[in-house]
Amino acid sequence: RTGLRLSPFSPANGISDEDPQETFEYVVRELNRFNLAYLHLVEGATGGSRELEEGESLASLRKIFEGPYMANNGYDRQMAIDAVEEGKADLVAFGRPYIANPDLAERLERDAPLNEGDSDTYYGGGREGYTDYPTLQDIAAQ
Ligand SMILES: Cc1cc2nc3c(=O)[nH]c(=O)nc-3n(C[C@H](O)[C@H](O)[C@H](O)COP(=O)(O)O)c2cc1C
Repeated sequence: RTGLRLSPFSPANGISDEDPQETFEYVVRELNRFNLAYLHLVEGATGGSRELEEGESLASLRKIFEGPYMANNGYDRQMAIDAVEEGKADLVAFGRPYIANPDLAERLERDAPLNEGDSDTYYGGGREGYTDYPTLQDIAAQ
């Protein structure tokens, strides 16, 4: 099954829309026809502020969508737990924490400390900052 990710309110890559709320309410309503596995929204500016402009609402987009909702952008462990417990999301996706923590799921489960990501190497193209962050097991073996 297919899931879909949208960034309704993000200015990433120069994207803008006169009325993103109206546009994406329409898009999300139409998506209900496809029985998607999930709808995944970037909440705010990709990798940046989670603040929305006046009149912009993730809650109303979520309300319109009839399937599972996956949230993303700037979440840490506690924010993710709260979002699910408060019914604001069914799932939470992690981006940067996963780059820096190949065993992120295990670390979150155990509430273990996380490696800090190094943004200087995010788009490097080589091994550094891509496959060389240690797992908990690597650290224990050092
Ligand atoms: C190295 C890197 C590459 C990314 N590439 C994309 C991309 O191609 N398309 C996209 O929509 N988001 C991309 N993102 C954004 C992430 O998917 C995610 O939305 C963002 O990092 C916020 O989530 P986080 O706070 O959990 O990291 C990228 C982020 C990083 C750090």
